[in-house]
Amino acid sequence: MKNYHQLFTFARNALENAYAPYSRFRVGAAVETDDGRIYTGCNVENVSYPCGTCAEAGAIAAMVCGGNKTIRRILITSDGSSPVTPCGACLQRISEFADADTEILLADRTGIRQTFKMAELLPNAFKEF
Ligand code: THU
Repeated sequence: MKNYHQLFTFARNALENAYAPYSRFRVGAAVETDDGRIYTGCNVENVSYPCGTCAEAGAIAAMVCGGNKTIRRILITSDGSSPVTPCGACLQRISEFADADTEILLADRTGIRQTFKMAELLPNAFKEF
């Protein structure tokens, strides 16, 4: 298991590669899986705005591509001075590979500011049909 500061550093490094010329709001995410692997992502915007993708989506895609399907914790950071909360769509993306106790760590540009469990940010998630 990585410590929280290491996870923050991974997300911060991912943020440095963000492509955010339209919002100028760079975001980085780092996922730690149940077997201790780390996958990162950054937001990738597009001139056709809805085509842009969030940092969390990139990190989750990398995780799945790497053969892992269980998120133990995910950390999100940005350039901003307040912590970033995943958007609704990203909470659903995280939920697919999480359980109620999965940790969602919210950071600003300097470090972790808030810690939540999955069930706190997306209670009664849509999990099956
Ligand atoms: N963004 C993320 O990457 N993750 C979030 O949790 C919130 C928003 C991105 C999307 C867009 O590129 C920019 O931040 C402004 O909304």
